[in-house]
Amino acid sequence: MHGFSYNNGSLFCEDVSLSALAAQHGTPLYVYSARTILDHFTRLDSALAEIDHEVAFAVKANSNLSVLRLLASHGAGFDIVSGGELFRVIKAGGDPAHCTFAGVGKTREEIIYALEQGIYSFNVESEEELRYLNEVAGELGVVAPVAVRVNPNVDAKTHKYISTGKSENKFGVDFGAITDLYDRASKELPHIKLRGLQMHIGSQLTSIAPFIEAVEKVTPLVKELKEKHGIEFWSIGGGIGIIYKESLASGSVDWWEIQPEAERPLTIERYGKELVPRLKDLGLKILLEPGRLIVGNAGLLITKCLYEKKGSAKTFKIVDAGMNDLIRPALYEGHHEIVPLTEPSSSERFKVDVVGPICESGDFFCQDRELPDFQPGDHVALMSAGAYGFVMASNYNSRPLPAEILVNGATATVVRKRQTLDDLIEGEI
Ligand code: LLP
Repeated sequence: MHGFSYNNGSLFCEDVSLSALAAQHGTPLYVYSARTILDHFTRLDSALAEIDHEVAFAVKANSNLSVLRLLASHGAGFDIVSGGELFRVIKAGGDPAHCTFAGVGKTREEIIYALEQGIYSFNVESEEELRYLNEVAGELGVVAPVAVRVNPNVDAKTHKYISTGKSENKFGVDFGAITDLYDRASKELPHIKLRGLQMHIGSQLTSIAPFIEAVEKVTPLVKELKEKHGIEFWSIGGGIGIIYKESLASGSVDWWEIQPEAERPLTIERYGKELVPRLKDLGLKILLEPGRLIVGNAGLLITKCLYEKKGSAKTFKIVDAGMNDLIRPALYEGHHEIVPLTEPSSSERFKVDVVGPICESGDFFCQDRELPDFQPGDHVALMSAGAYGFVMASNYNSRPLPAEILVNGATATVVRKRQTLDDLIEGEI
């Protein structure tokens, strides 16, 4: 579900008018729905209820402290990829003992920080990293809990930049090399505790098939590691895709449920139904690392139309958000629905490019898309921007970062202030 719908002709987030928020806080403006975030989290948690499991939110998708606090207070663990993300989780009241630390390039400082904080597991991506971790843990006189990331060589069939489970990707250790590595590590690395196994085949997967393929392929390996090394968990990663292409009809629309069953690419419930029977007899704790699924459709980016420029070939709607605020269209050809905050009174559509103010041709949110009319001064929302939106924003072109708002029922809280011009130059001389 998501918490955005028209109410008397005006787009709302839960019980809050988005036009009112735009008027009060300016644009570009990220807005998140707490109800939607929790709905996704609890539905996934319930879909796995039959097995011992933990949902570890992938912080990289949305690391706002208030979003993390909301999830922590409802029992989420966290999947982190840097010392900075661990710092955020701790500041938000999350428990390091429920954090897993992924990533191919952990630094000495990050490793020490995570060891000191007592994280649940380091998800290790190479033998070199495993040996280094052993060395640093030894220096500190502690034992580092680890899971090696197995690369199952499964095609996730997603955009090449976010596919991670094939042998040609930089991630994880080859499937065929894992047993050997665990055997050697248990003999040679006294400051390592082999606690689990991890995998993640890619992001924005819209079919269940690659998940099933990966789970079935890795299951015998997991059983062997449990028997030989007593591992206690298996993280099957994140990657569950969301629906980006869906126009917002009037009234409350559930983007999962408006799809006829046969055409639904992947639902939370289907994910649980297919995977739980395959996992439940392993006697292992199952970890999930979803990011996009939890927050993607729970957020949008409001932007204001500044100009309409009619060229000989195209009509451009120039808006005040740019690729520095939301980079997904430029980087992954990501599709975000564009919806006027005032419900269109006519069904007429016009072919336009919606573009930002940045000095790059890649700075567009859509090209040749049929959209309802909107004019300079009007606001539109870029939908499904809750994941990999603000977190990937930058100050390119010296543009201050947008503000972020978290809505809960009728309450809207500024959870990150808009940057000022002074913020832009802080730390520079
Ligand atoms: N676990 C690991 C090890 C990951 O690398 C990722 C995402 C996740 C979990 C969470 O994946 P999710 O459930 O969100 O699909 N910026 C890109 C997505 C990059 C994903 C990187 N890794 C985008 O905007 O599409």
